[in-house]
Amino acid sequence: MRILSGIQPSGALHLGNFFGMMKPAIELQDRGEAYYFIANYHSMTSLFDPAQRRANTLDVALDFLACGLDPVKSIFFKQSDVPEVTELAWLLTTLTPMGLLERCHSFKDKVAKGISPNHGLFAYPVLMAADILIYDSNIVPVGRDQKQHVEVTRDIAIKFNETYGTTFVLPEPQIRDDTAAVPGTDGQKMSKSYGNTIEIFGDEKVIRKKIMSLVMDSRTPAEPKPDAEQNLAVKLLKLVAAPQVFTEFEDRLRAGGLGYGDLKKALFDHYWACFASARARRAELAANRDHVESILLEGASRARILAQRVLKRARRAAGID
Ligand code: ADP
Ligand code: TRP
Repeated sequence: MRILSGIQPSGALHLGNFFGMMKPAIELQDRGEAYYFIANYHSMTSLFDPAQRRANTLDVALDFLACGLDPVKSIFFKQSDVPEVTELAWLLTTLTPMGLLERCHSFKDKVAKGISPNHGLFAYPVLMAADILIYDSNIVPVGRDQKQHVEVTRDIAIKFNETYGTTFVLPEPQIRDDTAAVPGTDGQKMSKSYGNTIEIFGDEKVIRKKIMSLVMDSRTPAEPKPDAEQNLAVKLLKLVAAPQVFTEFEDRLRAGGLGYGDLKKALFDHYWACFASARARRAELAANRDHVESILLEGASRARILAQRVLKRARRAAGID
């Protein structure tokens, strides 16, 4: 089984990225041949600062490795170090109906928010399809917001297979129900673009303040809260605390007697403890950047072998070779 996923270097990674995509991806690395990459080409659709892109790319590498991505088990690389993927994107784009891309929620949401879209943003799912198809991927672990893009990938692969003969493996998205959409500090989906994130490796004071500022309702501590499972701090605590700890807090809130301040304090403590060992590993890796760069280069040279093979298959099928 081949597993593949990517993440954009578009800013500091947050709990939504971690629980929605990174943790499932890290757990899957023991279950098959895993390909994970930093989608720096994709980041070009919305980030136009080269120094920032370079810095973010290294940060994503550090974050992912610190969180447990094992470069011995997984192939970890920068998307642009396998440039074959852009050629495959062209082969795919010629078979992609405009309507398929016009229906993509992620594109429509960005336009609705007032972003003036470039062609890259519109064609983004085609490059993502190339990312997935060029490694004959079977499983793509992602958060719920990426599900439609994997479905578009399947549609494009089917069209190519029908037009030029069976060439591509059809991938399946893998989305975990419990962490499909991690809420942000405002209760909406946590996202870099909504300014509601809790970073995985945020500064202690900054994150403490974000957590202590979570907006709760005006019920007194003594009041029982039968809707405890709807509470934002409880939802986040469920992610970062052990099940018995989380259940104890949820029960105390339900019964009455637990103040929101104490609940938020517990949330911060468990968040901080949850990433303590990763934080230490990240500091070690950050002191050895050459080692991190060499992991990415080694990953790319392994990924490229497969990418070249699959691209050749597609070129032949399409009558280019
Ligand atoms: P952002 O919305 O912050 O820009 P990305 O689009 O870069 O995040 O997402 C990277 C990965 O993390 C994707 O697989 C995405 O589905 C997942 N992800 C992002 N935010 C969340 C969230 N709040 N809950 C679950 N998964 C998420
Ligand atoms: N679009 C994904 C995101 O924003 C990143 C990505 C690019 C990706 N190519 C991919 C994810 C291929 C999975 C598979 O999160």
